[in-house]
Amino acid sequence: MIEDINLSDKKVLIRVDYNVPIENGQILDDYRIKKSLKTINYCIDQGASITLMSHLGRPNGFDENFSLLPVAEKLTELLNKEVLFSDDCISDKALLKSTTLEKGQIHLLENLRFHSGELENCLDFSKTLSFHGDVYINDAFGTAHREHASNVGIVNFFDECDIGFLMKKELKYLSHEITDPIRPFTVVMGGAKIKGKIELIENFLKQSDNLIVGGALSFPFLKVKGYDIDSPLLNDQDIDCAKSLLELSDKLNKSIILPYDFVVSTSIDDFENIDMKTIENINSKDGCFDIGPETTMHYSQILSESETILWNGPLGVSENPYFGTGTQQICRIIEELSNNGVISILGGGDTAAAAKKFSQFNTFTHISTGGGASLELLSGKKLPALLALENNEK
Ligand code: 3PG
Repeated sequence: MIEDINLSDKKVLIRVDYNVPIENGQILDDYRIKKSLKTINYCIDQGASITLMSHLGRPNGFDENFSLLPVAEKLTELLNKEVLFSDDCISDKALLKSTTLEKGQIHLLENLRFHSGELENCLDFSKTLSFHGDVYINDAFGTAHREHASNVGIVNFFDECDIGFLMKKELKYLSHEITDPIRPFTVVMGGAKIKGKIELIENFLKQSDNLIVGGALSFPFLKVKGYDIDSPLLNDQDIDCAKSLLELSDKLNKSIILPYDFVVSTSIDDFENIDMKTIENINSKDGCFDIGPETTMHYSQILSESETILWNGPLGVSENPYFGTGTQQICRIIEELSNNGVISILGGGDTAAAAKKFSQFNTFTHISTGGGASLELLSGKKLPALLALENNEK
């Protein structure tokens, strides 16, 4: 644990995930940056100096559109303290800056992915990065499912290394709290793609008391059940997966709870012909863009009897005002329940965006900063970045 390391007068190298949306130099969402502040402030309070490193996007070599400079400016504003910036993460100048930092100073390195060694988990690149600090802290949960030089190879070069407070909180809510949850435990899953969510659904069929599915994720299940539903998002592979998951649910004597009505239209842009239809009345020409009112009521009822809720993925095209009502109402119910002490855990970028749009963001118990990483962790997979730290302890 970070609290067990003596950080006084140490140079701490922190891997953060500042892969945030930036447009014309403006940061559109600073949630990940804000969530990294606890570890930074803790290290400063302990008398350390800090070098921060992150990737941003998927650049192909140096590309100023992927510069982390706007993040240095945002950090300066959030911390109310100058954050130094180096325009290359392994230049002699950058290394000199890190090694000569005064107690309390903070230094952000330029995008790690400007060097191919990062994605290649190149040991030489890891080694050079390691010269930035005496202690290594990994607080980049969003990247923990990647096996890269700054989060895996690098641990070979540190005696003192551990996770930060953000990583710890993510693990608490996306792993420990739901392995032995306060019951009833309800999982709400939505979004557009079944790919990447199969293991999750399988896992939660076993672990949860109620597994609710909405959004386009429900289509393959409804198709297998024989309903006349169609969508460009439907494919044979997903239908096969849905079939085996429905067979598993029968075997486990559990049900996958599916929508029984939808808000439909002829196309996503056709707001003139919006209608409500029960699943029996839907035909392959209907576009199902939101869960209907009966389904929303049913799901709300199940949620209101829950003590732990995990929500991953919107239940309709929530960014469109005509098709966002289902997601909005489910979001509000979860928010209200959170206010009454129910544990609410939200995962995935689209879910976080919906929560931000429809409710008081701070009400929920935990909103994950990870997309792919949260899916992998929730599926019960071991994350490479954490495995590297565990193996280093042995
Ligand atoms: C994310 O935003 O999911 C992480 O920062 C990982 O980014 P990547 O998918 O480009 O590796």
